[in-house]
Amino acid sequence: MDTQGLKAYYDQAFKKKLESTPGECLCSPSLLAWTDANSSIWYKNDPMLAIELGCGAKSVLVELSLPEKSKCFGVDFSRVTIDHALLNSQNDKIVYECFDVLEMDTHLSVKNFDFDLVIDGHLFHCLTNERVRQQYLSSVLRKLQVKRGYFVLECMVETGPLAFADDFLFLEDVRVLLQQIGKNAVPVRYIPRIDQLLEQFKQSGFKIVKFLCPPGWKIIADSRRVEPIDGDPGLARFLLAPM
Ligand SMILES: C[S@@+](CC[C@H](N)C(=O)[O-])C[C@H]1O[C@@H](n2cnc3c(N)ncnc32)[C@H](O)[C@@H]1O
Repeated sequence: MDTQGLKAYYDQAFKKKLESTPGECLCSPSLLAWTDANSSIWYKNDPMLAIELGCGAKSVLVELSLPEKSKCFGVDFSRVTIDHALLNSQNDKIVYECFDVLEMDTHLSVKNFDFDLVIDGHLFHCLTNERVRQQYLSSVLRKLQVKRGYFVLECMVETGPLAFADDFLFLEDVRVLLQQIGKNAVPVRYIPRIDQLLEQFKQSGFKIVKFLCPPGWKIIADSRRVEPIDGDPGLARFLLAPM
């Protein structure tokens, strides 16, 4: 699917989600918990510059304690999510911007900034093309190199044969929507093994400061189930820094 198709997909998926569960906590509690748990490593006493890529309708940065005068960006290419974030943000430490993160190096609003902290808002595993993932990691690395900043990620990992086909839809409400668009419109997730991920990060110029991938952690891939099964993907958490 091309970028326009993907944007349309996320726009429609989020529109549906925001309408059906308006009061739901919008930023990911697990990503927030992992970022917060590592604050003793990435925190600086001077004002920080931080960005969440693929922030959806609310950035986890809003919930973090950062030094006074810190500045944050939340970026997503879905207009629906960014409009929602803007409407609900009374927080002047964050600026929401709507653009494709692959344009990060040239986009006016961020091209001149070097960051202390970059958070991947579960975007990396949406990049199913290897060249695009490489481009994304290179851009993030460049944004962190000057200030020796940190990169926080949570990704799905394969822990055995997956219990669903490659084109499985991850959100039940998105499933209905996509049936209308057609099967070719289905975005898949990138779900590699943990060793492949670690290798990819190292090849891209990152050192692994910390990672966690306990065998018991599972993403319940099908929202019709409440219990995880063997073929559900695992969850890995990373704190990376430029080598
Ligand atoms: C799996 S959702 C996660 C949303 C939210 N951060 C969360 O954790 O619930 C991935 C988000 O990344 C955004 N996204 C995917 N590819 C993108 C790209 N190339 N540029 C900007 N945003 C992108 C989508 O619009 C979507 O909001």
